[in-house]
Amino acid sequence: MIVIFLILAGITAVEGQDNFYFSLSPRDLDVVEGTEIKLLCDVSDRRHVVFQWTQSGNLLPNTSRRFQEGSHLRILRVLRGEDEGPYQCIATNVTTGFSLQSSESMLNIQCKSFYFLQHNIFNTTQ
Ligand SMILES: *[C@@H]1O[C@H](CO)[C@@H](O)[C@H](O)[C@H]1NC(C)=O
Ligand SMILES: *[C@@H]1O[C@H](CO)[C@@H](O)[C@H](O)[C@H]1NC(C)=O
Repeated sequence: MIVIFLILAGITAVEGQDNFYFSLSPRDLDVVEGTEIKLLCDVSDRRHVVFQWTQSGNLLPNTSRRFQEGSHLRILRVLRGEDEGPYQCIATNVTTGFSLQSSESMLNIQCKSFYFLQHNIFNTTQ
């Protein structure tokens, strides 16, 4: 009887806690200007959890070019001078208010001509 009670008490204590963590968090990326990317974010347990994205600490508004898609952030045409970051994903348990912030992710955005130049050099030296 006592053993059963202790087990039940243990389960209840664990259920009330926020012990989720980032199972996916955004990474630094090398991207070519004008291309599409998705910054990934997810947590180990999604119960009551909502996601937000920030750039330089400011909440990112959704636009037709750059928007949150589920828990991820999608950019349809990456722009130099606007999209470098740093980005962070924020996961909040709306019931408890407990919030986790991912590490920062930066985009290294190359202009198209530089990208093609690099590839031409690469091809001719092969
Ligand atoms: C969020 O909080 C509620 C209430 O404490 C809890 O039941 C739920 O498991 C929590 N979610 C996560 C992912 O920890
Ligand atoms: C952007 O849209 C997503 C749903 O697609 C929503 O969860 C999120 O709160 C929105 N972000 C802002 C800043 O309104």
